[in-house]
Amino acid sequence: MKIGIAADHGGYKLKEIIHPWLIKLGHEVIDFGAYKLDNTDDYPDYIIPLAEAVADKEVDRGIALCGSGVGASVAANKVKGVRAALINDHFSAHQGVEDDDLNVLCLGGRVTGSSAAEEYIEAFLNAEFTGADRHMRRLGKVALLETRG
Ligand code: RB5
Repeated sequence: MKIGIAADHGGYKLKEIIHPWLIKLGHEVIDFGAYKLDNTDDYPDYIIPLAEAVADKEVDRGIALCGSGVGASVAANKVKGVRAALINDHFSAHQGVEDDDLNVLCLGGRVTGSSAAEEYIEAFLNAEFTGADRHMRRLGKVALLETRG
């Protein structure tokens, strides 16, 4: 799978751990930065380009990191076509894809340890949207919001 990753200073350390791990799993990884630890950087500068790449299907899925994962989720969800969520448990990591077609997983580098992060990421990447009618209907209602001027 082609996976985009991005992090501000709050998620930088976790990004540097998961990047080689994803490659080891056989994924192609596109890193949208930050490329060095800068405690003054701003998460939208990295998360929005990642989210745009997901929306444009330049990558299959995205992993967005900041200190809490909240800012990453807020920013990514502003991009049309992106369905991002802050994940702190295994169930939501796969059910978010299966039911809600989650395409950007957000994690907090100051909240989630690397082993738990890897578990959630694997669950996210191994899951597929079921396409069930009820989920399509619900997502259609959400997508309608993106057509408002
Ligand atoms: C940065 O200090 C921090 O606010 C940011 O990484 C993130 O946690 C925001 O939600």
